[in-house]
Amino acid sequence: PEDVGILALEIVFPSQYVDQTELEQFDGVSAGKYTIGLGQKKMGFCSDREDINSLCLTVVQKLLERHNIKPSEIGRLEVGTETIIDKSKSVKTVLMQLFEPHGVTDIEGIDTTNACYGGTAALFNSIAWVESSAWNGRYALAVAGDIAIYAKGPARPTGGVGAIAMLIGPNAPLVFDRGIRATYVKHAYDFYKPDLTSEYPVVDGKLSIQCYLNALDQCYQQYCNKVSKKLNIQVDVNRFDAILFHSPYGKLVQKSLARLVLNDYVQSSEEEKTRKYPELVKFNNVKLEESYFDRDIEKAFLNYSKETFDKKTSPSLLIASQVGNMYTPSLYGGLISLLINKSAAELAGQRIAMFSYGSGLAASFFSITVTQNCSPSSPLQKLVSNLNYVKPLLELRQKIEPKKFESTLELRQKTCHSAPYEPISSIENFFPGTYYLIKIDEQHRRFYDRI
Ligand code: ACO
Repeated sequence: PEDVGILALEIVFPSQYVDQTELEQFDGVSAGKYTIGLGQKKMGFCSDREDINSLCLTVVQKLLERHNIKPSEIGRLEVGTETIIDKSKSVKTVLMQLFEPHGVTDIEGIDTTNACYGGTAALFNSIAWVESSAWNGRYALAVAGDIAIYAKGPARPTGGVGAIAMLIGPNAPLVFDRGIRATYVKHAYDFYKPDLTSEYPVVDGKLSIQCYLNALDQCYQQYCNKVSKKLNIQVDVNRFDAILFHSPYGKLVQKSLARLVLNDYVQSSEEEKTRKYPELVKFNNVKLEESYFDRDIEKAFLNYSKETFDKKTSPSLLIASQVGNMYTPSLYGGLISLLINKSAAELAGQRIAMFSYGSGLAASFFSITVTQNCSPSSPLQKLVSNLNYVKPLLELRQKIEPKKFESTLELRQKTCHSAPYEPISSIENFFPGTYYLIKIDEQHRRFYDRI
């Protein structure tokens, strides 16, 4: 099949958030630390009424309903998540409750886990299935969802929650470029979850940033080499109309864009360096692996790349700054943010770069080409107009004071693996269509209802 890619996207995020300025005051840190230092505005969070199953149920049902997809039209469904509530039973099997009543059980795919990378793995598997001999003409559904929460401390403001479902098939408006995907996987203890009774990771913040930036260097260089071999073109950031990153917090994304420009600089010939980057001449001998925390280089390249960031990356950060790091859906929240900040006519023909990172670590750099057709009845126009609800929905959320945010996280901390358990939080302000937990029985079986 030709033009395999994304036909439709849906997102869910919590109907409540904590304001990062208020959280700065409440945590007693200096004003601006979370909002300017990290670049975050609001953070979505869940009560004891939601878990990874309910989030994924909500987003999958939403996609089927809003796009009039019959359960029998899905041939593959898989979930990327690092929010583990069962060591054996997958979230995918829970989602089958949406398909079994329609007599549909012939659906391949299962869960994939590696920190924030699982969603990308689910997506790659879905694309591969459509392109394979196993394909049976039906759609694939790649689901990414997580509840990202950290223990009290400097990492806590970098949490978030969300789930995204992506409908994958041929003749899509967002087409994955073939044969140039670049991946970097290696062993690192930058962020991991060894305590299976806790929702919190063990995280070495500084190491995680270094691993992220190093993976970015490696993937980008490999991507550039592959394009150069395949198409005989020298890639730099100018090749892309939009450049999207996994977003733990906005500031790291801005530094990452600057990092790509630094990579371009390092790869340039002496002649190009003087011609294209006259103001960066003093960095002529910079070594990538020694520059992760070099303030001078960071500042110079942040300044140099500011315009590119504003144009190509900033439009993708809306959901990340409003909801926080959703982990696996983060990069795809970036894609939705881009799509809702542009018209179909602006998007038509554009090339979008995507960088996915999951600690531990696994990372990929790949690209999407948007189709040219943006007529009123085009798949692209449909995909974009279907996301019109996202901005108003962000505004409809309820602001919760930091004290309540903290007690809610304490409640989750105490009860997340309790059985039997009946959730005590209100369901009053949930968005329509939300699945929520009604009880966990003594056998740890979970039961849900829908608003
Ligand atoms: N006004 C403006 N800026 C401020 C202020 C202020 N009042 N106070 C601090 N800052 C700046 C700092 O200068 C720093 O900027 P820099 O990044 O340019 O150096 C930034 O805010 C962060 O402050 P720090 O004190 O350096 O960092 P902190 O100890 O608060 O921790 C960290 C930040 C490491 C990101 C932490 O939140 C964390 O561990 N998060 C989870 C891990 C993570 O997200 N890693 C990223 C990749 S892995 C993944 O996706 C999970």
